[in-house]
Amino acid sequence: MTLTAPEVNLLKQAPAVEGVMPVVLSRWSARSFANRDVSPADLKKVFEAARWAASSYNEQPWRFLVGLRNSSTYKKIFSTLIGFNQGWAAAAPVLILGVASSKFSHNGTDNRHALYDLGAASSYLTLQAASLGLTSHQMAGYDHAAARQAFAIPEDYLLGAVIALGYQGEPSALGQEQLIALETTPRERKPLSEFVLSAWGEPAELG
Ligand SMILES: Cc1cc2nc3c(=O)[nH]c(=O)nc-3n(C[C@H](O)[C@H](O)[C@H](O)COP(=O)(O)O)c2cc1C
Repeated sequence: MTLTAPEVNLLKQAPAVEGVMPVVLSRWSARSFANRDVSPADLKKVFEAARWAASSYNEQPWRFLVGLRNSSTYKKIFSTLIGFNQGWAAAAPVLILGVASSKFSHNGTDNRHALYDLGAASSYLTLQAASLGLTSHQMAGYDHAAARQAFAIPEDYLLGAVIALGYQGEPSALGQEQLIALETTPRERKPLSEFVLSAWGEPAELG
């Protein structure tokens, strides 16, 4: 029998680590969305959070194209998604496309950290969403060229991820077995020893 949405939500929680912000542990990327809209006030809050991310030279290179269900912006973003993502993201009430200016506005030189900064802002967005009881799901699986064309995004903007935003739905609503299996599998992460290093290939001693 398929787990219910609250059961899945529990199963997706990272193990508690004392002192780590609870929202970091509780955020996860659902694929099942409830048939419930995100209020304009909450939508504004997630972008307010993104707004306050740090960025190189405080350039704030990010731009977010946001589409609510049935809007032309939503339809354009949706049309660029690969089939696998269309299979579940169709139920999301909000789709967002994140892009970043690759040039610094103060002198026109390359901003090599533009995508890094967009990623930081997007992380703030997803954490704020989680703190509001929303779920978000980022996607690299879309046709970048088609998205650029659909929105006439200038050449000097880099494309980031599409983000589906909404409320978690029942896993059974996903229909396909493969999607239900993904939705009901616990999250996994590498141990700190694999990515916190004191020298190349040497885990840092963190106590
Ligand atoms: C940049 C990026 C691209 C992703 N692309 C996809 C995607 O195209 N389709 C998808 O189903 N999930 C996608 N994901 C979701 C990841 O698979 C997911 O974040 C990862 O498995 C960790 O799970 P969690 O977010 O629930 O902790 C993407 C996530 C990120 C950050």
